This record gives sequence, C-alpha cells and structure tokens, in this order.
Amino acid sequence: MSWDPQQYARFAGQRLRPALDLIARIPIEHPRTVVDLGCGTGNVTKILRARWPRAGITGVDGSPQMLAEARKAEANIGWEQIDIAAWNPAAQFDLVFSNAALHWLDDHPALFARLSGKVAAGGALAVQLPRNFGAPSHAVMHELASSPPWRDALATLLRPQPVLSPEAYYGLLAPNARSLDIWETEYLQILEGENPVAEWTKGTWLAPLLAALAPGARAAFESEYRRRVAQAYPRQPDGKTLFPFRRLFIVAGF
Ligand SMILES: C[S@@+](CC[C@H](N)C(=O)[O-])C[C@H]1O[C@@H](n2cnc3c(N)ncnc32)[C@H](O)[C@@H]1O
Repeated sequence: MSWDPQQYARFAGQRLRPALDLIARIPIEHPRTVVDLGCGTGNVTKILRARWPRAGITGVDGSPQMLAEARKAEANIGWEQIDIAAWNPAAQFDLVFSNAALHWLDDHPALFARLSGKVAAGGALAVQLPRNFGAPSHAVMHELASSPPWRDALATLLRPQPVLSPEAYYGLLAPNARSLDIWETEYLQILEGENPVAEWTKGTWLAPLLAALAPGARAAFESEYRRRVAQAYPRQPDGKTLFPFRRLFIVAGF
C-alpha cells in the first residue's frame, strides 16, 4: 500500500498518545540497541531517541514515502526500508518496539515467535496494536467493499483482521517471557472538522481501497462511505465528533 504521510499526520496528537502510553511502561533503563518496526515518518522513533540518547536506534519501514519524511528529520537514527515480513537480522536487540504497525501483517503466532527471538536476554518486546476492527469506521468499509458495485475490484483486498485477543497473546508469549504486561485502552478521541472519522481512515485502511478503484467508482465509493460514517458518528452539539478507539498494548520482558 502507498502511504500519504500528510494524510496520516492529520491526527498526529491522537495517534501519538498510545505510543507514549506504551513507552511509559517499558521497563528497560539503558538499552544498547533499539529497533522501531513500522516506524513510519519516525515521529515515535525520535521519542525513543530522546528517551535513550546513547542507544543505537534503527527505524524499519516498508514505505519509501514514510521513510523519505523520516530521513528529513533526525540524524543519528538508522533508517532501513524493508518489509517486516522479511526482516530477519542476525543480531538481537535490547528493545524490539512497534507502534500501530503489526496489524498490517498476518499470522501473529508466527510473527510474535519470530520477533520474540530477536530480543536479547534482559530485553523487551513492546507493541501497540489497534483492536477496533468491529467499529463502524471499519465495518462500513467492509460492507461496501463486499457489495455488488465494488466487490469485483475490492474483494481481494479485504483481508481478515489479524489482531488476536489479549488472552491469545498471553498464550503465545507466556511460555518464554520473564514478565508480561498486557492491557487495553479505549480512547474517546474528540475530533474536529468535517467528517473527521472518514478523514482518519483515509490515512490508513481506506487508502488501498480507493487506490484500487477507477476514478468514477472511487468517487462513488468514497461518497457513500463518508455518508454512512457521518451517520454512525454524528456531531456533538459543540460541533465535535467522538471516535472511540480501542488499542491493545503488550510489553514482554525476556
Ligand atoms: C500506522 S503507521 C505507524 C507509524 C509509526 N509507527 C507511528 O506510530 O507513527 C504504520 C506503518 O507501518 C508500515 N508498515 C505496514 N506494514 C508493513 C510491513 N509489512 N513492513 C514494513 N512496514 C510496514 C507502514 O509503511 C506505515 O509506515
């Protein structure tokens, strides 16, 4: 999928908060090496750099557009363009970190086993994943993409969401982890502007669906999606829109 850093950055504050909540729970004082998987434009990687100024930090992402933004910002972080599915370095890291990225990869039992194997003894795996796929913001997209006018073009892009239950991650990690901290938070995001939930998903899940449609079909799909989403998330009397968003956090010490 092609990422648009500007569209993604439109809700930077709301998207940053869970990363800060995750970082606050990482129990390592002085990691020597840190990798940020799915680092995007590097906003969060820079916060990792500020928290651990002496660590060697690498940001990994598959998107050249996102990495081009990341490279503008900060020296002293190594940026690598690679698909996380193929990421298999020989070295281990004191901290393997990933904020809002691993839900783009399938088969989490195999993925979490592989990533756990990249954590050095005494280190940690720290991950945040959205777990909001049943919400209207996503359900409406799925409904429309499966319906007759669009399904021929879009059905192959609909993938089962890969994020498991908190208990399932406990089951995957507990046999090898020294410590486990797993929790969920539902943020009541208070958004401003015209149809902000549709603008939010346009920065992520909606983008590949729109990109797969011819211009006429794309406009019709987006307009119907926006209409239904606006109904599902009506404006409050003060003009703002509430977008509850559930996220799962995992910090495993090894
Ligand atoms: C929602 S953004 C999050 C960016 C960053 N972690 C943050 O918190 O701001 C997801 C990022 O994951 C990257 N990504 C998704 N699937 C990937 C994959 N299979 N391999 C590498 N990067 C991937 C995307 O390119 C995108 O930059």
